Amino acid sequence: MPAGRHILLIIGGGIAAFKTLDLIRRLREGGAQVTPVLTRAGEEFVTPLSVAALAAAKVYRDLFDLTDEAEMGHIELSRAADLIVVAPATADLMAKMAGGLAGDLASTLLLATDKRVLIAPSMNVRMWEHPATQRNLDTLQRDGNLTVGPNEGDMACGEYGPGRMAEVPQIIAAIDAALADGPLKGKHILVTSGPTHEPIDPVRYIANRSSGAQGTAIAAALAALGADVTFVTGPADVPPPQGVRVVRVQTAQDMMAAVETAKPAEAAVFAAAVADWRVANAGAQKIKKDGKGLPKLDFAENPDILATVSQKTDGRPKLVVGFAAETDDVIAHATAKRARKGCDWIVANDVSPGTGIMGGAENAVTLITAEGSETWDRMSKSAVAAQLAARIAKALA
Ligand code: C5P
Repeated sequence: MPAGRHILLIIGGGIAAFKTLDLIRRLREGGAQVTPVLTRAGEEFVTPLSVAALAAAKVYRDLFDLTDEAEMGHIELSRAADLIVVAPATADLMAKMAGGLAGDLASTLLLATDKRVLIAPSMNVRMWEHPATQRNLDTLQRDGNLTVGPNEGDMACGEYGPGRMAEVPQIIAAIDAALADGPLKGKHILVTSGPTHEPIDPVRYIANRSSGAQGTAIAAALAALGADVTFVTGPADVPPPQGVRVVRVQTAQDMMAAVETAKPAEAAVFAAAVADWRVANAGAQKIKKDGKGLPKLDFAENPDILATVSQKTDGRPKLVVGFAAETDDVIAHATAKRARKGCDWIVANDVSPGTGIMGGAENAVTLITAEGSETWDRMSKSAVAAQLAARIAKALA
């Protein structure tokens, strides 16, 4: 519970706003101070009086409310907060945030702040699935906004699907994670995860069996220790963790670009299964089965992200961790890989058929450092992640 912390809570105009009343109550019970901001649309769903009564605080209702700038201008409002929470975050509010609009108090606050922002989307399933909303979500996550939910279920409009605002305990857990005071607090850590997709033409691609489960668990474990995580993920099977900055990419080249444009990191964990090669002569149009024989694919080598970052002379993270998925002679191959790539640690695992590790729930790893190698018991991927995150925290202390 975020005791003693100050939350600026922006309430958008959605049916889920009634849950936000309970969120306010629970946050206050947990010792947090809540400053509520109610959008005009929000006022259609909950009254300023009930919000003020539950928050035991003034409700800020509109930009023009702030005529008394001496009391607290829109900049001051967010300056005092430890975290901004937007719940419910409607499609309209998300679009305003993604577009950088500032036509009312809520959007102005969100544009004028440098504080972390957690959004809890809530809307009709079709609005949620609309490409515009998904594009806005991607932009918001890349901009560093944290998200919680939405959940899938019955909707007030009688439909079923994703779009229901996260439940109050989930939102509180995400707030706790965002405010976590762990050993990695204030440290920026970059994590790559998942496979990459290398196009053959607009409809076909080359991929691999990585599910993204281990990288996702590592990002979650680092965030739970308070790290500020940038999570660069290829098209994975598992959803990204909550409480991290998500950057979605498709190809190895996209992943390289995302890693290079991320802000400087104190540590970087490269858990992605990056394709070694891309198709150099990928078709701009779908390649046709036209009876003129088989297509010929030419390959080009992809950038080695781990080696590039490890060998940087300027702005290299203090700790660079690579992964080595091997099928034979794991320790020897991984030790050679550590030297070749120039990283500090290698987390090596045996992914031979029969181990069930690739795409499975468990992992058996050997950690290779400058001091030598240590083999961990086979355990769940989340336990491996927690152990690795604890080691990273110790190394950066
Ligand atoms: O060379 P190999 O693919 O076996 O090395 C695995 C490690 O290198 C992993 O940490 C992976 O994320 C990273 N890697 C990378 N860019 C590549 C290939 C691998 O970052 N192009």
